[in-house]
Order: sequence, then C-alpha cells, then structure tokens
Amino acid sequence: MHLGVNIDHIATLRQARLTTYPDPIAAAHLCIAGGADGITAHLREDRRHIQDEDMKTLARLANEGVLHLNMEMAVTDEMVRIACALKPQAVCLVPEKRQELTTEGGLDVAGHIDRMKDAVQKLSASGCRVSMFIDPTQIQIDASQRVGAPVIELHTGHFANLEGEAQQHELKAIADAASYAKSLGLMVHAGHGLTLENTPAMVNIPEIEGLNIGHAIVADAVFKGLKCATADFKALIKRD
Ligand code: PXP
Repeated sequence: MHLGVNIDHIATLRQARLTTYPDPIAAAHLCIAGGADGITAHLREDRRHIQDEDMKTLARLANEGVLHLNMEMAVTDEMVRIACALKPQAVCLVPEKRQELTTEGGLDVAGHIDRMKDAVQKLSASGCRVSMFIDPTQIQIDASQRVGAPVIELHTGHFANLEGEAQQHELKAIADAASYAKSLGLMVHAGHGLTLENTPAMVNIPEIEGLNIGHAIVADAVFKGLKCATADFKALIKRD
C-alpha cells in the first residue's frame, strides 16, 4: 500500500509565526526517510499553509526523482495553470471553501462534468496522474470515470468522525465503492481523518492501493518528539 504523507500542517505551524521554520521540505525528507512512498501537499487558494515556493521546491524534487509528489488543489484556472507548469507526478482535485478548517467533503464531479473534464484533460496532457477526491457513491465514481480521471481518492472523513453502527455502515459504503471503482478500472486511494486506530479498517479493503494521511502523523510526531526537543533546550541552557 502506498503511503502519502500530507505535510500541510508543518507549513501551518510555520505560517502561524511567519518564520522560516519548521520547514515543510525538511519534513518531507524526514517522512521519506520514515518510509513514506510519497508527499502530499495542498496549495490552497488562500495560501494558508503551503506557499507557492514550497510547491515549486517539492515539484523540483519530484522532477529530479527524489520524491513522489501528489499536489492537492481546487479546480480553478489558477491552480490548473500552476500544476501544468510544475508537473507533479500526481494531482488530486479537491473541493475548497474559504471558511472550512479542512477539506470537508468530496468533490461534486457529477454536478460539474464539463469543468472537471477540462481540468483533467489539461492536467493529464501535462503528464500528471489525476485523482478525484470523492465521497464513496456510485454517481461520483461513474462521473470520475466519465471525466477521464484514472484515480479516485475516497473521502474517509465521515467514517473517521462516526462511531458504532453508523461507522460500520460508512465503512461498508467505502468498501463497496472501492470494489465498484476497481471493477471500472479505476485506481483507488483513500484519505482524511485516518489515525493509528482507524487505518487498519482501510488496510483490510484490498482494492484500496494508497492512503494519504496528514493530521494524525503530525499530531503523533509532536508527542513522539516533544520530550527530546525539551531535553535539547534544557541541556543547552545548563550552567555549571
Ligand atoms: N486527502 C485529501 C484529499 C485531503 O484533503 C487531506 C487533508 O488535507 C488528506 C487526505 C489528509 O487528511 P488528514 O490530514 O485528516 O490525515
């Protein structure tokens, strides 16, 4: 299974102080060293975390063969133009709303066939493998195939937020969607809200070939590294 690590949160932390650190590029290298198969980063229209320069550097590293880059982006003329110029190996089209804390749901591919088809054609012609971030429904899967996307990423955010029977119901919808998409010849990825606790349920769905995970990895990294980072400063300020 392909693991894409989303490094947006590293940039969020940097933008909170407008410093040069923590550097998302350094984070990308560490994720690769930790076993990530690729890096995912979202250039949002409001540039709230990843900046144009970050994406340029990531794309350069991708084009040099140092890493696999999945650029997440909204379906806008500006983003299509940027992605066509940067040529990351993969692009994931996502819905974007200014006020949202994070991507809140899947893309309505079925409701915007012409616009989606145009974006997929341009991005594919530039050499990017395009993925549609969609809810696990047949109508969105059919539409993704219709617009020519070779990959779908199933939105697991609702599954992650649910509990008990409702969660099992959503899990079945994801499994059925993965199986249906694969039968159409689409490659299936999944992501959003995945944690160490709920990721095994995705691993158990054989049609899912890749996961994109960000928030939980960065959150876990804080706890796995905080003790050491404190100890470094304590050692530094120690007077004899
Ligand atoms: N996949 C997509 C399309 C996303 O937009 C995001 C969040 O940016 C993720 C995966 C990762 O979600 P999380 O940060 O909750 O792991």
